[in-house]
Amino acid sequence: MSESLERELDRAAKMIERAEYVIAFTGAGISAESGVPTFRGKGGLWEKYKPEEIATPEAFERDPRRVWEWYKWRMELIAKTKPNPGHIALARMEEAGIVKAIITQNVDGLHQRAGSKNVLELHGSIWRVRCVNPSCGYRATVREPPKEIPPRCPRCGSLLRPDVVWFGEPLPSRVWEQAVIEAGNADLVIVVGTSGVVMPAAMIPLLVKQHGGVIIEVNVEPSNITVSADVFLKGKAGVVLPKLAEKLGLKI
Ligand code: APR
Ligand code: ZN
Repeated sequence: MSESLERELDRAAKMIERAEYVIAFTGAGISAESGVPTFRGKGGLWEKYKPEEIATPEAFERDPRRVWEWYKWRMELIAKTKPNPGHIALARMEEAGIVKAIITQNVDGLHQRAGSKNVLELHGSIWRVRCVNPSCGYRATVREPPKEIPPRCPRCGSLLRPDVVWFGEPLPSRVWEQAVIEAGNADLVIVVGTSGVVMPAAMIPLLVKQHGGVIIEVNVEPSNITVSADVFLKGKAGVVLPKLAEKLGLKI
């Protein structure tokens, strides 16, 4: 490991030890080493698919089958993956009382599978479905993709949709409010594997910064957050986070 990363890890560990309330904010990059494709950058999903064709309410309205085929493919892919040492390191930091909450943009559920308890899913979960009929309200957790595509609501027969946030849709209000509270409590946020371009999610680290908190960022390359980061730990989440955990006296 490079001298400078070693030094930055020491600095980051000291800041975390001094902090009163640490949270984590994660994006697709923390799941990359588990084999879950990221959205932007080399080989990202948005290189192959147009978001407006599969990740918007209009796309679902136009062609629910096509949207569901994409989510079926992603569910099958994610089902074959497992949490990587980056997810596990954050779960250990929560167990040790160091990290109080994980605010994630990811829908893959890998933080929970790694053992993290207080996880706020800003963009929903690929493992939940809900009825499109507002007066029905049916929603369910699923373990595998629906047998029939597009699936129908067992209660009212309307279409079921993935319980994720599409472009142009509001974030789930209770989850967002809780995330803002956590950011308000935090005096340090560990930002992992996000390009920091999607709002309002990417506001979370900046809210911590705004009231005098510290940003420690883990990424393989600079992001939109880096300019506001107090420490930039350049490297893969699955490598850097376990090293950070070790510096904090935890065994991964
Ligand atoms: N370790 C750490 N960071 C990594 C790794 C890795 N192994 N691999 C990639 N990254 C970084 C990339 O450098 C990039 O900054 O992860 C980030 C991934 O960025 P995006 O693909 O834009 O993912 P994210 O920031 O989570 O996107 C936010 O956009 O499309 C929507 O809803 C979707 O939740 C998603 C949101
Ligand atoms: Zn229904």
